[in-house]
Amino acid sequence: MKYTVVDSYEKLSRLASNLIASQITVKPSTLLGLATGSTPLGTYKRLAELCKNGDVDFSGVTTVNLDEYAGIDRSDINSYYYFMNTNLFDHVNIDKNNTYVPNGKAEDLEAECKAYDERIKNFGGIDLQLLGIGFDGHIGFNEPDSEFVAGTHVVTLDESTIKANARFFESENDVPKKAVTMGMLSIMQAKKILMVVNGEGKKEILEKALFGPITPKVPASILQLHPDVTVIYTPENA
Ligand code: GLP
Repeated sequence: MKYTVVDSYEKLSRLASNLIASQITVKPSTLLGLATGSTPLGTYKRLAELCKNGDVDFSGVTTVNLDEYAGIDRSDINSYYYFMNTNLFDHVNIDKNNTYVPNGKAEDLEAECKAYDERIKNFGGIDLQLLGIGFDGHIGFNEPDSEFVAGTHVVTLDESTIKANARFFESENDVPKKAVTMGMLSIMQAKKILMVVNGEGKKEILEKALFGPITPKVPASILQLHPDVTVIYTPENA
């Protein structure tokens, strides 16, 4: 595991976007796993700049996002679908038909989860998965649990996650209680993992995940078993 601490959010975003851009240059047909949250925003902004300057070409790239709120419409400004379009896909030369975010409003969520895993498998797995970490150690929306769940599944969000994500909604009550998340298998089978983390407040859970016992109570701790993980952390807030 490569654990890099940098002194600014700007530098974190620069390093992370460079890594993603290199991956795409080396393999133009990359299957890129993407994340939401505040931390990747700078990375996405810089990827858009690199693309505008002709330094990265998204035309052959396919993306799969980690998660989506359940029961939320894709046109809702709080959906992760909307987030990805406004923060990245609208600003790079990607074919939007090749961008996938779980459909949290699918009539049959179980079938949606199965199809999501099948799609990733048929692509031959994720080449590079971008991750953040939640205050409770979640990756995607894999919340602390008694076991690591392999497949894409529906989860009930923890109180702490609802509180942390309330900043994006009008009130805490508006935060959906459930979500669809990629499970641990697709994440762990990604060829490379890049985790970005910012803020003093995340340091304790990050170090627990990276150096503490491997346990589903700290979902991100499973990454200790992955052969190619790069973690970039800055104490500076986004
Ligand atoms: C959400 C997302 C996670 C993300 C986490 C951390 O809960 N589902 O995938 O990693 O937020 O977000 P932030 O980058 O804002 O700290």
